[in-house]
Amino acid sequence: MERIDRDKLPKHIAIIMDGNGRWATKNSMNRVLGHRKGAEAVRAVVKTCRKLGIKYLTLYAFSVENWLRPKEEVRALTALLKNYLEEELNEMMDNNIRLMAIGDIDALAGGVKTTLCEAIEKTSGNQGMCLNLALSYGGRDEIVDGVKKIARDIRSGTIKEDTITKDMFSQYLYFPEMPDPDLLIRTSGEYRLSNFLIWQLAYTELYFTDVLWPDFSREHLLEAIADYQRRERRFGMTSEQLSKD
Ligand code: FPP
Repeated sequence: MERIDRDKLPKHIAIIMDGNGRWATKNSMNRVLGHRKGAEAVRAVVKTCRKLGIKYLTLYAFSVENWLRPKEEVRALTALLKNYLEEELNEMMDNNIRLMAIGDIDALAGGVKTTLCEAIEKTSGNQGMCLNLALSYGGRDEIVDGVKKIARDIRSGTIKEDTITKDMFSQYLYFPEMPDPDLLIRTSGEYRLSNFLIWQLAYTELYFTDVLWPDFSREHLLEAIADYQRRERRFGMTSEQLSKD
């Protein structure tokens, strides 16, 4: 078992949960069963993060591009999400977990959107950990939406063009109070960002594993965190500069 330094935990972990389909094929199952097993892996990872004391966990549950999948698969994923939210709401309350969502939530089917908004509302006062689901999410869409909001504020005279800074731009993204991820995990041996948090990942440590998402366990998560803790984050500076602080 990997040893974790509790004083050097990433504050924000983001995960691209990939490989449900391949897991299903490997186990001679329908893709939907791969997603179902993937939802179980979600439960375990949320529990472990909460226990460790991770403050933000962002999961890429559905991308804007995922709408292009076969209708039955989209329907199954939506149903799984609704089911997850209904079943986990009490658990979130008991464990002081706040639910959030980023993405084009209005694009979600009515039933799941209502369940999601109710869970967000009900858990809004919880402060133990924030579970942030990226749903119908696209990183470039998020940036373009931010640019549009800034343009509106300039037009209305709320802000001036020359006061725009990187920090201020972050305030126009979907979840302004969310710190940038410290660690990004992508499963299933793919080495891409797939339009996930592309603004926020600028200085994030990237961790790739061949494990397919449904097989991703508590131990795999601890391994990823231990790997993160062995790295030196320099943010463009030198090691010598960092050791002076
Ligand atoms: C990628 O695997 C996974 C998804 C597109 C969906 C992720 C959804 C879940 C893990 C389950 C439901 C989520 C929650 C929050 C309860 P893939 O289908 O692209 O796999 P493949 O690349 O092997 O085909």
